[in-house]
Amino acid sequence: MTTRTTSQSDTPLYQYSWVGAGYDALSRFVYAPLGGLALLRAQAMDAIAIAPDARILELGCGTGGFTRLLVEHGEVTSVDMSPNMMRRARRRAPAATFVESDITAYVPARGAYDLVWCGFVLHELDRPARARALAIAHEALRPGGVLAIIEHALPASGFWPRAMSRFVHAFEPPSVVDWVRGGFTHELLEAGFAETSRVTLARGTAVALSCAPR
Ligand SMILES: C[S@@+](CC[C@H](N)C(=O)[O-])C[C@H]1O[C@@H](n2cnc3c(N)ncnc32)[C@H](O)[C@@H]1O
Repeated sequence: MTTRTTSQSDTPLYQYSWVGAGYDALSRFVYAPLGGLALLRAQAMDAIAIAPDARILELGCGTGGFTRLLVEHGEVTSVDMSPNMMRRARRRAPAATFVESDITAYVPARGAYDLVWCGFVLHELDRPARARALAIAHEALRPGGVLAIIEHALPASGFWPRAMSRFVHAFEPPSVVDWVRGGFTHELLEAGFAETSRVTLARGTAVALSCAPR
């Protein structure tokens, strides 16, 4: 099922029809020497405690790599502004509800979700937009709910992890720098979240954070 709340246009890269296939191929290539994309996603899912039959809001679902796994845990609403990315997500996770919208314009049901999932998306937003997205996540969560953030990280060592991290960052916008290099914590605190766990993934090139609304 798909609903549309805004008519926001895509950012330049995401306007291309091939971007979904390109994103999936590039992700597989990047993570192949780091244990593989499937393992990264499985370990990210294991890192987050998900309540049974959870109500889940996914921000920035892209091609649905996580959506496919999240629907096994409950009822999923997935938001993304790129129809070209979401086309694949709809095929991968037909049970999810898809909303084509800019995250920062999305108005979720207040206090309705057990889990808000942000997989590799917050780094694409500049700092004010990221603050808005975190505020939306905060509003959406019920008391005791969990914000899950899966993000790029800076590996401390290793030739391949460092090379892949540089390669990924070459494709990413400057907003990566303040979010990833800033270590997330400061912005999370400002948004009213306390980090409750942090698990390193893909040889230090990614992290899974669990955060609780304070
Ligand atoms: C790097 S992809 C990650 C996709 C997916 N979560 C994954 O882990 O494979 C980032 C996604 O966020 C979406 N996105 C970026 N900024 C957005 C915004 N302001 N509103 C809605 N979606 C956005 C893009 O369209 C893209 O599909």
